[in-house]
Amino acid sequence: LIGIAVHFLAGYLFGSIPFGLIFTRMAGLGDIRAIGSKNIGATNVLRTGRKDIAFATLLADMLKGTFAVLLAAYIAGDPHTSVLEKNLGELITGFGAFIGHVFPVWLRFRGGKGVATYIGVLLGFFWPAALAFGAIWLFTAFVSRYSSLSALVAAVLTPVVLYFMTNVQAAGFFAIMSLILIIKHHANISRLLAGTETKIGKSAAPVG
Ligand code: G3P
Repeated sequence: LIGIAVHFLAGYLFGSIPFGLIFTRMAGLGDIRAIGSKNIGATNVLRTGRKDIAFATLLADMLKGTFAVLLAAYIAGDPHTSVLEKNLGELITGFGAFIGHVFPVWLRFRGGKGVATYIGVLLGFFWPAALAFGAIWLFTAFVSRYSSLSALVAAVLTPVVLYFMTNVQAAGFFAIMSLILIIKHHANISRLLAGTETKIGKSAAPVG
């Protein structure tokens, strides 16, 4: 039980670093939580018009998840040969990183929606599934131009991909993360249904 708590907390610490907030502040863009959708993620950072800062946010929010999982694997001495050898510690650390991003104690538990960190954790855990997530996201974004819809479609399909390509344990962990991701997108879902969701790269965004 202590092992589970240590893995979760270690992942949480990495995941809770709000890179979108830090980078936009450093770039003198003000508080990202007052702009567009008010989210701290890369999609909203892009609404400031700064593609470079949005890209840096995407990369950093992703890689903190990847790093946490790989660190857990390294410490456990996991040679990363087969996904079936991956231990529970990696899943719990990745889960902690995702939760840290979505509910960071530093921001009174009001964090991001978890998309980038979800991909990053997947990348560290089983990279082909991260590629699948990315491909589904890109395809949906290409067709719809909605970042939120793309993330929602990818989040629904990824646990299914994991179920067939890895095991039920991994699929279960990511299914829980998908559920949290979907709930965090509730305002986006309402806007999508109302036809008022902002498309990718458009600077004017509805409040919420
Ligand atoms: O990654 C978050 C994205 O799916 C939606 O972001 O800012 O449009 O709420 P946003």
